[in-house]
Amino acid sequence: MRVAQPSPSTIDEAADLLRAGELVAFPTETVYGLGADATQGQAVARIYEAKGRPRFNPLIAHLGDIAGVEAIAEIGPLARRLAEAFWPGPLTLVLRERPGSAITSLVTAGLETIAVRVPSHPVALHLLKAKGRPVAAPSANRSGHVSATTAQHVAADLGESVAMILDGGATPHGIESTILDVTAERPVLLRPGAVTAETIAEIVGALPVQSAPREADRPTAPGQLESHYAPTLPVRLDATSPREGEALLAFGPYVPAYDGPLLNLSPRADLAEAAANLFAALRRLDKSGATGLAVMPIPEHGLGAAINDRLRRAAAPRPPTNPSRSVR
Ligand code: TXA
Ligand code: MG
Repeated sequence: MRVAQPSPSTIDEAADLLRAGELVAFPTETVYGLGADATQGQAVARIYEAKGRPRFNPLIAHLGDIAGVEAIAEIGPLARRLAEAFWPGPLTLVLRERPGSAITSLVTAGLETIAVRVPSHPVALHLLKAKGRPVAAPSANRSGHVSATTAQHVAADLGESVAMILDGGATPHGIESTILDVTAERPVLLRPGAVTAETIAEIVGALPVQSAPREADRPTAPGQLESHYAPTLPVRLDATSPREGEALLAFGPYVPAYDGPLLNLSPRADLAEAAANLFAALRRLDKSGATGLAVMPIPEHGLGAAINDRLRRAAAPRPPTNPSRSVR
């Protein structure tokens, strides 16, 4: 595995590796993506293998522009308004796949819909344009682990299974894209993310419908595994002060005095700053020697919805890990 500084020539090399069916990790404005050519079944299969993803959970297809999206999916009027407002940028739209598209069915896990986005990070955009074909890319972390916001996180999680990591430094948003299903009349929010529901409402005229609550006995519903984004340590939410042995993940200016491991997501209580720091902070405190992780309350509005979604999943009971049994 090679870690390369992005330049026109290394990005071209990365595009060649993708064409050859290899995996390439690259920065996006949200988190690092683990990319494979979305038209090659074997290449996409390697994503699941590298991540240790226990079942075929559908992937997001990344494209360089709306025309590229149009070649693989049907863009209705509502989707077009959203695409024009937010692309390139951290919004993923679930659309109806165009029958006979070049996308391998491993990307959609056999669904009739496909998740697509046009990222705004210059390295991602340059790579997608150099490649000229859709790139399937989940977050570049081991399955169930915290998403990677630096090249070092990617290397630590995925190591030799990736041919190349384009190191674009820390990703600006630090939290994944917002996923919106626009296949029905009203948009449904499948995952809160870097674009807030309030901003979407400004374009659509109403807040998106919240996706139905997850059912414990249906863990295979796309994207809705309860425990996800999990550090190794147990996570305790809404903590006002740390208990003995715990590390404290703080937020805002009023933090209890503590001489144990402590990181503040944003001393000035800025949710964008907190989102950008979240996954790196979880990874660091996880290695602090603490016995658990206490997390101070974070407001639920704006980006707080996405941050709290990830933290609730980090705190959820962990599923038993037996990948071989759950492969379908
Ligand atoms: O910010 C992001 O979205 C990052 C960067 C790399 O673009 N990618 C990312 O991918 O977070 P991943 O695979 O970690 O999460 C994609 C989510 C999964 O939970 C998957 O179930 C859901 O999108 N998804 C994909 N296709 C879907 C579909 N057709 N219908 C519903 N959900 C879908
Ligand atoms: Mg992920």
